[in-house]
Amino acid sequence: MNILLLGGGGREHAFALKICESPLCEKLYIAPGNAGTAALGENVSLRLNDFDAIGQFALDKEISMLVVGPEAPLVDGIFDYFHEQDELKGIRVIGPSQRAAQLEGSKAFAKAFMIKRDIPTAAYAEFTIENIDEGLSYIDSHSLPVVLKADGLAAGKGVLILDSVEEAKAEFRAMLEGKFGAASERVVIEEFLKGTEFSVFVLTDGKNYKLLPIAKDYKRIGEGDTGLNTGGMGSVSPVPFVDEQLLKKVENWIISPTLTGLQELDAPYHGFIFFGLIEVDGDPYVIEYNCRMGDPETEVVFPRLKSDLVAMMRAVGDHKLSEMEIEIDERAAAAVFLVSGGYPEAYEKGKTITGLDQAEGSLLLHAGTRMEGDTVVTDGGRVLAITSFGKTFKEAVARSLENAEKIQFEGKYYRKDIGFDL
Ligand code: AMP
Ligand code: GLY
Repeated sequence: MNILLLGGGGREHAFALKICESPLCEKLYIAPGNAGTAALGENVSLRLNDFDAIGQFALDKEISMLVVGPEAPLVDGIFDYFHEQDELKGIRVIGPSQRAAQLEGSKAFAKAFMIKRDIPTAAYAEFTIENIDEGLSYIDSHSLPVVLKADGLAAGKGVLILDSVEEAKAEFRAMLEGKFGAASERVVIEEFLKGTEFSVFVLTDGKNYKLLPIAKDYKRIGEGDTGLNTGGMGSVSPVPFVDEQLLKKVENWIISPTLTGLQELDAPYHGFIFFGLIEVDGDPYVIEYNCRMGDPETEVVFPRLKSDLVAMMRAVGDHKLSEMEIEIDERAAAAVFLVSGGYPEAYEKGKTITGLDQAEGSLLLHAGTRMEGDTVVTDGGRVLAITSFGKTFKEAVARSLENAEKIQFEGKYYRKDIGFDL
C-alpha cells in the first residue's frame, strides 16, 4: 500500500524506518520530511493545516494509510475530515477523532475526563477572565509551587511552574490576558506532584490496545535536568523503576478507564495514546495525555519494536488489533540529541554536518536537517538523534556518545548525562 506520513522530526524519521521495513509498504511519502526521510521515501511539501490539499494528494497518489505524527492536524480534525468524505473515507487515518484529540487539545477537558473516571491526576481548578478574582484567591490558598497550564495547544510552552504566589498571580493574569493567545483564554491551576516522570504509549482501536515499550525523556537543556525546557534532549527505554507492579496499576487505573471513557464519549480513536505519567510513592498519576507518539521517545520506542508496525496500524482500522502479537527487543535503547548552539533560544541554521558516515553501531535519526545539494545541513534546533542499543541503557548511552563526537557541525551541543537519574 501507499502511505503518507505527516511530520518532519526525529519521530517521523523513526516512523519512516519502521514503515519501510514492512513488506506491506509499497511507497512512502513524507510531508514535509527531512534529510533522513528523503532516503526512505519521497518528501513532499504539503501544509499540515491544508486538509483539502492533503486529501487531494492522497487521492492522486492512491494513498491507503495516513499516519499523523504531530498533534496539530489531529486536534484540528484531520481524522474527521477524511471520514466525512466519500472519496476519502476508505483511507485509514492513524490518529484520534477531533473529539478524542481534546485529551491533548484541552487541558480542562482532559482534567474533567480524568476526575469523572477516578483516573489518578493532580487536583485542579480552571478559570477564565470572567472569574479571574476567584483564580487569584485560589492561588493565595494554594501550596507552592503553583502549576499553571494554558488550556489549549501552546507549542509545549504552556505550562509554568512558579515558586512564589506573586509570580504565579502575575503569570496567571498574563495568561488570561492573552500571553499564549486563545490557548490561554482558559487556565488550569494544578497541585504540584513530586516524583519521577515516565512515558507510556499504546496503539489502540478505541477498545483494545497494545502496550509499546516504556520510555523516559529528558527535556531540559542542561545536564542534571537544569536550564530551559526543550523539545527533548534524549530518551531511554525501558525505564528500570517501572516494574510489573507499577505497570499493572498504569493499565488498570489509567489505560483501561481512559479507553472506557472514550467509548462513553463515542469518540473514535484509531491511533497512539501517549500517557505522560509521574510516579509518586509507588503510584502512577497522569500529568498529561497526548494524542500522538512522543518525541524523542519514539526514537527509542520504535527501534525496540520488532513487530510489523504497518500490519499493526492496519489492524487498528480493521478492528483486528486484539489478534496481533507484539514482539519487543529485550535490549535497552537510548537516544542522545545533537542540537544547534544557542537552542532553545536563538540559533543559526544551515551549518554543514560532517561525519555522518563515521558513526558506527547507532541509528541516526534526523530531525532538523535538510539536503543542500549533496550536503546535509542543519535546519532546526534539534538536529539529530543518535539511537543505540545496549544490554543496559548506560551501555546504549555510551555508544551514542561515542558517535556524537564523530559527527560535527558548528555549534553542536548535546547532553552527556541522559539517564543520569535512573
Ligand atoms: P505538560 O505540558 O502538561 O506535559 O507539562 C510540562 C511539564 O511540566 C511536565 O512534563 C512536567 O515536568 C511538568 N508538570 C506538569 N504538570 C505538573 C504537575 N502537576 N506536577 C509537577 N510537574 C508538572
Ligand atoms: N516528549 C514529550 C512530547 O513528545 O510531548
